Amino acid sequence: MTNKVLLNGRFVEEQEALVPYNDRGYNFGDGIYEYIRIYDGHFFTLQEHFERFLRSASELNIDLDETIESLTEKAEALVKENNVENGGVYMQVTRGAAPRDHAFPGPDVKPQMMAFTRSYGRPLEALENGINAVTVEDIRWLRCDIKSLNLLGNVLSKEYAVKYNASEAIQHRGETVTEGASSNVYAIKDGVIYTHPTDNFILNGITRKVIKRIANEQNIPFKEETFTVDFLKQADEVIVSSTSVEVMPVIKLDGEAVGNGQVGPITRLLQKGFEQKINESH
Ligand code: PDD
Repeated sequence: MTNKVLLNGRFVEEQEALVPYNDRGYNFGDGIYEYIRIYDGHFFTLQEHFERFLRSASELNIDLDETIESLTEKAEALVKENNVENGGVYMQVTRGAAPRDHAFPGPDVKPQMMAFTRSYGRPLEALENGINAVTVEDIRWLRCDIKSLNLLGNVLSKEYAVKYNASEAIQHRGETVTEGASSNVYAIKDGVIYTHPTDNFILNGITRKVIKRIANEQNIPFKEETFTVDFLKQADEVIVSSTSVEVMPVIKLDGEAVGNGQVGPITRLLQKGFEQKINESH
């Protein structure tokens, strides 16, 4: 069975899900997206993702005629159509198709929406054993809080990680660690979790929110403060988090062991808490 794509309100076959050559997403990366996880047929943190989706649209003045309810209906319909039990739904909106000009088109040009699903299980082996990461200079723009389609900085960082046999690139602006190519980053030192504050330099991750909630519930200090690359390298434990990788331990950084090279106890507590949140969500 093929996977259907939701294109401007219609289910179409993948090979027929084509967009105009002058769509602004294609020409300028002028659009926004979300990626939402599905566990056992249930969305995880759907509300938060769509709140962020609407915020991203609003920050870019994309006039989106949608509410959390209407977006939920669309996502649910697509997941049902494609029979997704475990996986995710990707949804994006561009400013629309118009003759190429940097400035916004007129109000007659309508945003274009596209969504697809993927089926896959949790990354259990990596969650158990941890991953390798490398550090790389953060060369992205100054509005990383917007989940924009314009991901070239992230793409180059991720490709740098791949080149050095790592699963994630941890980005830094000068000495300050910001976030991963597609994840948030945490350094754990002496029982305290440190992570970059939610400003314009990072995406306010939904998984980060869940981790913060778990830390608060378990009385683990959670400090939203900047820290340096050196501090990260001296940390007892390092984690990256995202919708797809959950609470992912980093056991090697730039080829050197993090802490004692094993997945640490606070990481395990957070992972356990995260599994509970998944179970509570359905
Ligand atoms: N990426 N920071 C960046 C730059 C990201 O791309 C992501 C997620 C995150 C974590 O956000 P969340 O916990 O809400 O997934 C942080 C998604 C998974 C993606 O690009 O597919």
